[in-house]
Amino acid sequence: MKMHIMPVRRNLKFHVPDNAVLDWHDKGPGISQFFNTLSLFFPEGERFFINSVRKYRDQIDDPELQEAVRNFIGQEAMHGREHEDYNQKMVKAGLPVDKQEAIVTRLLDLISHRLPDAMQLSATVALEHLTAILADVLLREPELIDGSDPQYQKLWHWHALEETEHKAVAFDVFITVFGRGFKSWLLRASGLVMATIIFFSLFYPFYVINMYKTGKLFSLKDWWMSFKFQWLKPGGLRRVIIPWLDWFKPGFHPWDHDNREFLAEMDGLIGDVDGYSKDSAA
Ligand SMILES: [Fe+2]
Ligand SMILES: [Fe+2]
Repeated sequence: MKMHIMPVRRNLKFHVPDNAVLDWHDKGPGISQFFNTLSLFFPEGERFFINSVRKYRDQIDDPELQEAVRNFIGQEAMHGREHEDYNQKMVKAGLPVDKQEAIVTRLLDLISHRLPDAMQLSATVALEHLTAILADVLLREPELIDGSDPQYQKLWHWHALEETEHKAVAFDVFITVFGRGFKSWLLRASGLVMATIIFFSLFYPFYVINMYKTGKLFSLKDWWMSFKFQWLKPGGLRRVIIPWLDWFKPGFHPWDHDNREFLAEMDGLIGDVDGYSKDSAA
């Protein structure tokens, strides 16, 4: 199924409060650090996505897809800016997120310089799939974030909505360039396996370090809450296993997971963000 949903660049500022950064989530610091650790990957990761899609821009003839690419780049740049601000607040609060980000930067630099452009695009579509299915869970299960600090909640809600809105853009570029043959399937299938392994082998050590720095490394209560949150109820990661596997269907398209109904939440969210006006959306 192919559905054209045109992403919109929205210049929103969330000003997440500094003093809440280590414990903004309703279910405590264990889950706050889970989301915080996720946040540190975005600025560098999204820059990498933008660059890898840009390399194929001139191979796109469809003006609608060209416009979607422009807006995808605009959205990811805004996400990067807001997560950068969020990440700096973590550093101020004593989390070594700057050092962790430097490791991500080195890895992505290495990939950008050493791997062929095709593999970079395949890593991007794979990570966009991972982001889109995580975003879907967040939108589907408000319990994952309800009752938390409103600014953090809004930032994650906005990011999940825009990831949904643009989830097929890099994918459509990939299919335009590489087609639907076996080689293309192999490229994106191996991309998801590699990207998932590399991502989680960085994520969990960083998460443990951030729990240590928060003084919660030995808090059984917080680790139990975190385990429950990820794998039992609501089970944020458990719920993405099937959608993750769907990627390996030969004809898969991101809009096969049709969750566009959530996009209707955008207007309410925008109305709720301080200082946003239509003019700043340019
Ligand atoms: Fe993003
Ligand atoms: Fe994205």
